Amino acid sequence: MIDLRSDTVTKPSDGMREAMARAEVGDDVYGEDPTVNLLQERVADLLGKEAALFVPSGVMANQLALKCHTQPGDEVVVESSSHIFLYETGAPAWLSNVQLATVDGADGILSAPDVAKAIRSSAYYLPKTSLVCLENTHNKAGGTIYPLEVIRDIQGVTRPRGVQLHLDGARLWNASVAANVHVREYAQYVDSLSVCFSKGLGAPVGSALVSSRNIIEQARKYRKMLGGGMRQSGILAAGALYALDHNIERLATDHRNAFALAQTMTSIPDWHVKLETVQTNIVIADISATGTSASAIVKKAHEAGVLISDMSETAVRAVTHLDATASDVERAGKILQEIFSRRG
Ligand SMILES: Cc1ncc(COP(=O)(O)O)c(C=O)c1O
Repeated sequence: MIDLRSDTVTKPSDGMREAMARAEVGDDVYGEDPTVNLLQERVADLLGKEAALFVPSGVMANQLALKCHTQPGDEVVVESSSHIFLYETGAPAWLSNVQLATVDGADGILSAPDVAKAIRSSAYYLPKTSLVCLENTHNKAGGTIYPLEVIRDIQGVTRPRGVQLHLDGARLWNASVAANVHVREYAQYVDSLSVCFSKGLGAPVGSALVSSRNIIEQARKYRKMLGGGMRQSGILAAGALYALDHNIERLATDHRNAFALAQTMTSIPDWHVKLETVQTNIVIADISATGTSASAIVKKAHEAGVLISDMSETAVRAVTHLDATASDVERAGKILQEIFSRRG
């Protein structure tokens, strides 16, 4: 079975497992886990921010950011197909008592004028816009990358209005490698960002929220309230440190594999892939012209030995990652081409 449902399906390599087994640990709720502390310092430094907090998941990192940057009743501007809006179980309403204002981006990418229009004036009867969230790369748009100058221009709109800017950087590493832009360059324009170690980087668990010392101190408290205070989590942090050392540059291979797969997928009758959006490791094919549902296509691919996922009733997604070699991905493409090119 070739599993291309997500880059979260990877299993830790032998080298990563060894690093995890050797990790020096302590009680992180006491702030005494040296490996967690090292990871947090390293990630903060890498991103040019004051502090970082190791958390169990990307959702927790994003939601802690929303909690720290807002007050109940505020409004948060997000892109209409963002992970925070679609896939975080309504947590902004439940946890932060905020409402989301959605704005359509171009392939997931918001512009500074889009954001300026969405920020409310200060009239007393309007909600207060306290936060704008961007997603880089953008998952549902097919792994698209924010041009650096667009993030800079968005900050040029948010900062003078006193609005905070958060970046969901679950796959910021992919953006950085594909665009050849250091992660710190992206980070310089935002007030906080989340990054994940458990997606393209191949660690089994973990994300980080990265921001000012003040925000991270608040986030530590909220993490504890949510039951996310972990103890000897240095074992997990060691996997993340190993991933930072070994698995960033190789993302270029996943990107090459994804583009080759996209070219194969777009040759299947009635499958449409916007090749210009295949900028990193995600391929989304619009299969509406086939007259078959995405779930039926996913099922048939599964039966033929390829796991992909349905993004909607009319779109399927394949994601490349470090546990799928170039030849695995090529084989998956050929299988899809073979089974979906047959008529009847
Ligand atoms: C863009 C984006 N943000 C956040 C997340 C959430 O990460 P997690 O599954 O670790 O909570 C994901 C998960 O795939 C994602 O794609």
